[in-house]
Amino acid sequence: MTTENGFFVHRVAVIGLGLIGCSWVKGLRAQGGVGEVVGFDRNLDSMELACETGIIDRYATSPGAAVADADLVIVSVPILSVRPVLQALSASLPQHAVITDVGSVKGSVAADVKAVFGAGFGRFILGHPIAGSERSGVAAADEHLYCRHKVIITTEAHTDNTALQLVMQAWQAVGADVEIMSVGHHDEVLAATSHLPHLLAYSLVDTLANNHENKEIFNYAAGGFRDFTRIAASSPEMWRDIFTANREQLLATLDLFNKDLLQLREAIVQNDTTTLMGVLTRAKAARDHFSNILARRAFVEPMKTSSLSYLVQPAKCLSGTFRVPGDKSISHRSIMLGSLANGVTEVSGFLEGEDSLATLQAFRDMGVVIEGPHRGRVTIHGVGLHGLKAPANALYVGNSGTSIRLLSGLLAGQSFDVEMSGDESLSKRPMGRVADPLRQMGAIVETEEGGRPPLKIKGNQALKGIHYVLPMASAQVKSCVLLAGLYAEGSTSVTEPAPTRDHTERMLKGFGYDVQVDGSTVTIQSGGELTATSIDVPADISSTAFYMVGASIAPGSDITLQHVGINPTRIGVINILRAMGGNIEVMNEREVGGEPVADIRVRSAQLKGIHIPEDQVPLAIDEFPAIFIAAACAEGETILTGAEELRVKESDRIQSMVDGLNSLGVAAQGTADGAIIPGFGPEGSFGAGVIASHGDHRIAMSFSMASLRADAAIVIHDCANVATSFPGYVELANSTGLQLQIQGDVGGD
Ligand code: S3P
Repeated sequence: MTTENGFFVHRVAVIGLGLIGCSWVKGLRAQGGVGEVVGFDRNLDSMELACETGIIDRYATSPGAAVADADLVIVSVPILSVRPVLQALSASLPQHAVITDVGSVKGSVAADVKAVFGAGFGRFILGHPIAGSERSGVAAADEHLYCRHKVIITTEAHTDNTALQLVMQAWQAVGADVEIMSVGHHDEVLAATSHLPHLLAYSLVDTLANNHENKEIFNYAAGGFRDFTRIAASSPEMWRDIFTANREQLLATLDLFNKDLLQLREAIVQNDTTTLMGVLTRAKAARDHFSNILARRAFVEPMKTSSLSYLVQPAKCLSGTFRVPGDKSISHRSIMLGSLANGVTEVSGFLEGEDSLATLQAFRDMGVVIEGPHRGRVTIHGVGLHGLKAPANALYVGNSGTSIRLLSGLLAGQSFDVEMSGDESLSKRPMGRVADPLRQMGAIVETEEGGRPPLKIKGNQALKGIHYVLPMASAQVKSCVLLAGLYAEGSTSVTEPAPTRDHTERMLKGFGYDVQVDGSTVTIQSGGELTATSIDVPADISSTAFYMVGASIAPGSDITLQHVGINPTRIGVINILRAMGGNIEVMNEREVGGEPVADIRVRSAQLKGIHIPEDQVPLAIDEFPAIFIAAACAEGETILTGAEELRVKESDRIQSMVDGLNSLGVAAQGTADGAIIPGFGPEGSFGAGVIASHGDHRIAMSFSMASLRADAAIVIHDCANVATSFPGYVELANSTGLQLQIQGDVGGD
C-alpha cells in the first residue's frame, strides 16, 4: 500500500511524542504510507498512550533503540533538546535512513546536525510545519492537522536530493504544501512573524501583572488585552528554546521594533496626530490586506484569482436607477495630487477598486498619511511637492497602467530611487512610451527588455522642461510628462494628436496650479505649489458603458445612471451609441469640482452598424469591448479603424473581443487597427459559448451583458480583475436584471 502520491516507508521512528510528530505519523498511517511506527518519548505515559491510540506500534527505551532499522526518523522535540537527542541516536542511525525535524528555528538545528554528524551530512532534512493547535500532546494528535498548511523545508548546499524528495513526499502525503527556503531566510522571516509577537505578548502580560499597582486591570482586560496576549499562554519551555536558538535574528527585529516604538512614543509626546494617523492607517491597511491570507492558513499565498469565472444565464432586460462606482482616472489623480499638495485634501466618491487602491498604497509607502477609504471618503495629509519619502520596497501597482505611467513621471522628479512592478498583465505592457519622454527630460529610467515593467527610476536627476509631441493619443503619457514637468526646470508642454482625457489638467487647476491650454498643447511651469482642496469623484462613465450597452440591446430596458462624469474627452461611448441609433438622454447637467456631471437615461433601441468615426476613438478608448457587444446586436456591419491602441490595454482587446464574439457565433474579424463586426440584428442572438477574458476586467463585464441577447448560458473565465475598476459589479448587475453567478474560488488579497 502507498499513499495517493506514492509515498511508502517500512519503518518510521518518532522521537518526541507531542502534537506535531504524532499528527504527522497519524496522517501517514491513515494514508497507508507507513509499515511500522516506533516511538520514543522521555515520558512513559505519552508512549503508552501513543500505543493505545494506535499512533505508534511500539515504543523503545532510548532514541538509539527507536531508530535502529528505521527508514525515516522524525525528531520532534523542543529546539534545545535536538542536539542531545541526535547525540543519543547517532550511533544507531542506519546508513540509508533519512532524518528530519519539525523545529521553529532552523539555524540552530543545522548547527546541531553539523556538530553531531559532521559538515557534509546531507540526509538530515530541516523542516518546519506552520501549523499547531491550542491543544498539545499525544491526545491532541490530528491526522488532518497539516492539510492545506504550509511546511517550510530549508535546504543547504549539501542537502541530499533523494532524502529531500522523500521528506517532501511524506509531508505532501498528509496534505501539506511544501515550500523551500534557505535557513537564514527562514529564521529571519519567523523571527519577525512569530518569535517577536510571542516575545511581545509575554512581555506585556508580565509588565502588567508585575508592575501595575492596580491589579484590577485584569478584571477589565477583556478585549484588546485578551486578543493581543493569547499567545502568552503557550509553552514557556518551548519559547525559551526558540528565543535562545534564534537569538541573532530575534534581536535584529526587536531593535527595529524598539526604534519604531520610540518614534510612536515621541509622536504622542509631541501631540503629533499626523504621524500617529500615519502609523495607524498604514498598519490597518497592511492588516486588512493580510487578514485574507491569514484567514486561509498561515503563510499561504492567496488563491490564484484567475479561477474565478462568471456563469451568465440568458436575461431579459435592464431596469433601475443607480450609481456606478467612482471614476478610476479621477480617483488615481486625487490621491497623487492630494499627496503632493500642501494641506489636507478630502475626497468623496473615491473608487475603492484595486487599481486606485494600488495608487493609494504607493503613496502610503512613500510616507503620506491617508485616512480611509471609508465609503468612498479619503482624507489625504499632503506632504508638498518635495515631501515624499523613499519607500522601503519596490512599489507594487498590480494591474494598474495608470498608476505605473503617471507615477513614473512624478517619481522621476524625486530625490530617491524607486522601483515599480505589477502583475502578469501589466508586466507585458509597453512603458517605453513614458520612459522615452522622461529620458529626454534628463530622467534615468530603466525598463526590462522591450520597455516592459518593472521600472527602475533613479532619483536626484535635474530634469529640464521639454516640448513633447505625443506619438499616440494617450492621456497617461500626457499626464506622466506634465507631472514630471512639476519638477523640471522651465516649462514643459505636451501636444497631443487627438484630444484625450484631460483630468490631470483640470485637477492641477483645481489644486491652484497654473496650466495653459492652447489648442492641442498643454503647458506648465515648474516652481508652483499645489494647495489642498476637496474633490467629489463622479461615477465612472467607463463603468456605465456596460449598462448603456446592455440597456440599448435588450428590448424593454430602461435605466437611469446617476451622477456620471461626462467630461467631453470621455463621452465617445454616448456619441457612438447615439450614432448607432441608441436612445440616450443626458439629463440634469451640472459641474462638480471642475468636472461636468449628469444623469443618463438609456432605453432599448434598434441599433444599426456604422463605421465608427476615428475622432471618437480616443474619447471611447476604454469602452470598445462594450461597444463590440452593441455592434454584434446591431443591424448591419460595424467597422472600427484607427484603434491600434486597443492591442496594448489590459489584454489585446481587439483579439480578446473577436475571439469571444466568434465563440458566441458572431463572425467578427480583427484588423491591425480595429475590427469588422457583422451584426445579427433585431431577430438574432448570441449562442452558448465560453469566453477567455484574459484577466481583462472590461472584457469580462462586456460579455456578461451579451447574456441580455443570448439564447443559452455564457461562461466567462478569469474574471477576478473586475475588482480593479468595478467593485460590486456582480451584485449590481444582478439587481438590475442580469442572471450572473460566480463560479470557482473567490480567493485573492
Ligand atoms: C487613462 C488613460 C487611458 C485609459 C486608461 C486610463 C488615464 O490610457 O485607457 O484606462 O487615466 O489617464 P492611455 O493613456 O494609454 O490611452
